[in-house]
Amino acid sequence: MWTRREVLQSSTVALAGLALSPRLEAAGTSQAVVPAAAPAPTAKSGPFVLPPLPYAYEALEPAIDAETMRLHHDKHHATYVSKLNEAVTAAPELAGRSVEELLRDLSRLPEAVRTAVRNHGGGHANHSLFWTSMTATPSGPPKNRLAGAIQTHLGSFDSLREQIARAAAGVFGSGWAWLALDAGKQLVVEALPNQDSPLSAGQTPLLGLDVWEHAYYLKYQNRRADYVQAFLNIVDWAAVGRRYEDAVGPA
Ligand SMILES: [Fe+2]
Repeated sequence: MWTRREVLQSSTVALAGLALSPRLEAAGTSQAVVPAAAPAPTAKSGPFVLPPLPYAYEALEPAIDAETMRLHHDKHHATYVSKLNEAVTAAPELAGRSVEELLRDLSRLPEAVRTAVRNHGGGHANHSLFWTSMTATPSGPPKNRLAGAIQTHLGSFDSLREQIARAAAGVFGSGWAWLALDAGKQLVVEALPNQDSPLSAGQTPLLGLDVWEHAYYLKYQNRRADYVQAFLNIVDWAAVGRRYEDAVGPA
């Protein structure tokens, strides 16, 4: 497990590039954007860029503390972006492809770059979804078609929360718990290791819960279950519902 010192000493990194792919931008919430104090870009650049937080570092307190948010976003996520840029810069044939395209096509990428895209591309896509899955002003349980799909596929909203909590508790080491839509348009709850993305399994990620220790250790130490419950109370279900609508298409 990480100590506080290890978390604080975690990698520093470069930021830069152009823009997050439109798909991830579309995953953003409709809430007011409070500019975060983004770290200054460095000389390292590439096609991918660290998206700003859609709220202030302290906006999610007490569920997630400002220091964790600052380190998680400005250092950890930034590192994934930087490493992904390094990887694609070394593979010019990948130029112009979004991170989602790369992750969906992971098995067909050149072997020399596949692991880097899996880890750092996954890290970039997963965290981009994560920031826009939480809100300081939760609007309540899922509504509309997502609510119906949860009822049909997962039993109930309470059952969904329990399944997510169970998946998160079951992650051995580092990984994520996911709510995703599979190729048959069924909702699934699952755990994936490291920075693996549901996209690489032909699924559409709707909600990701980061259970790497860097996501919660400063505040919760070994109490992962408490962090998971705190997360579940600040999920932006309206944003998750919009992702679901985009994924399933018109009724
Ligand atoms: Fe993380």
